[in-house]
Amino acid sequence: MKTLILYRSYHGNTRDVAEALAGEMTKLGHQAETRDLRRPLPDLRDIDGVLIGAPTRMARVTWKARLALRRLRRKGYTDKPLAIFDTYGPLPADPAKLEEDKKWFYPGAAGRMQELAQKLKLNVFPKTLRCLVQGAKGPLQQGELEKAAQFAREFVAAIEKK
Ligand SMILES: Cc1cc2nc3c(=O)[nH]c(=O)nc-3n(C[C@H](O)[C@H](O)[C@H](O)COP(=O)(O)O)c2cc1C
Repeated sequence: MKTLILYRSYHGNTRDVAEALAGEMTKLGHQAETRDLRRPLPDLRDIDGVLIGAPTRMARVTWKARLALRRLRRKGYTDKPLAIFDTYGPLPADPAKLEEDKKWFYPGAAGRMQELAQKLKLNVFPKTLRCLVQGAKGPLQQGELEKAAQFAREFVAAIEKK
């Protein structure tokens, strides 16, 4: 199986998640290519699964990621599976503050990409992967790369079942 992991990253955190996803897929014996979203989409004919990830910034998702979803649709990538991931945070420790600020974190880049992918009728995996950072520019919180590896296993298992 061959997967394509598209990402946009300003400070390296989302790229680290993309590489953890690719690393786990390679460990499972599959081919996985990570690719910066600033580059054009490659030929998708021999691709069995696509993942697309971006950081949450000002509660939103970069237009490059939205454009890539539209391009996937235009290129006819509508039956094969797609999964969405993002990075976000850090979350306020105080629950009252989190409640007050929640619009900055939820639905985040992942939720916004998921909504657009559904609107475009792409075959999007129901679950998204969201990885937390410790500070506004990272690094990722402990355990988040393992969460990414687990997500990679679930996505691969879902593709293999079909
Ligand atoms: C300018 C800026 C704005 C950000 N805005 C948000 C935000 O609104 N919500 C959020 O959850 N995280 C926000 N973050 C945190 C980023 O989502 C987090 O650091 C992310 O992992 C960065 O990914 P990258 O290293 O791949 O660029 C922001 C970070 C920066 C630098």
